[in-house]
Amino acid sequence: MKPPLILINFKCFVSGKKALNLARICDEVSKNYKVNIAIAPQFTDIATIAKNVKIPVFAQHLDAVEKGAFTGHVSAEALKEAGAKGVIINHSEKKLQTEEIEKCVEIAKKYKLITVCCSDSLEEGKKIAKLKPNFIAYEDPILIGTGKAISRVKPDSVKKFVEVLRNFDSKVKVLCGAGISKGEDVAKALELGTVGVLVASSVVKARNPKKILIEFLNFIRKK
Ligand code: G3P
Repeated sequence: MKPPLILINFKCFVSGKKALNLARICDEVSKNYKVNIAIAPQFTDIATIAKNVKIPVFAQHLDAVEKGAFTGHVSAEALKEAGAKGVIINHSEKKLQTEEIEKCVEIAKKYKLITVCCSDSLEEGKKIAKLKPNFIAYEDPILIGTGKAISRVKPDSVKKFVEVLRNFDSKVKVLCGAGISKGEDVAKALELGTVGVLVASSVVKARNPKKILIEFLNFIRKK
């Protein structure tokens, strides 16, 4: 997926028709502005949304299980069949142990799902980089939902995260997330060396998500 990337995490803020409407807005803006937007709706909305938009649809999590007696789990195979193109792994709201992250990345790769592994620290980021996910997203859980962007509140941490991981693996693609709410926040994230952002509240809870998205993309196009 060509950077820059805006990955919009719907979390449990929207579902059903509201999720589909938001997905269609993201699809329209991505097409009109020619900037990569991906979306992560709730599991129950993936299949319907994937049939109705062209932009990549991600799952917000997966369980490292294959076919079998795993009640209540969500498998990579089922996500793939539902039309998911990728998956967020280890989000701070769905934290996994290191061994689980490893298994999830492995099984996601087996089913050719793009992997976005979240990390809340440089130490964890270094461990995750060894698994070679497609993207590593640096998020500070304290800033999630605050509207105070990590790229502006903690620029040095973001810059260091990118530099250390890139020294570790020159191909690693770093996103950052938490509090991203203005075009300047996105522009700053790119200036710090990330290839995009993870966003939730400022878009998903907006009265006019299209206006917010267009502001983001206008700042990206200025780059
Ligand atoms: O996955 C991204 C999310 O955790 C960021 O949340 O609401 O601060 O954009 P928010």
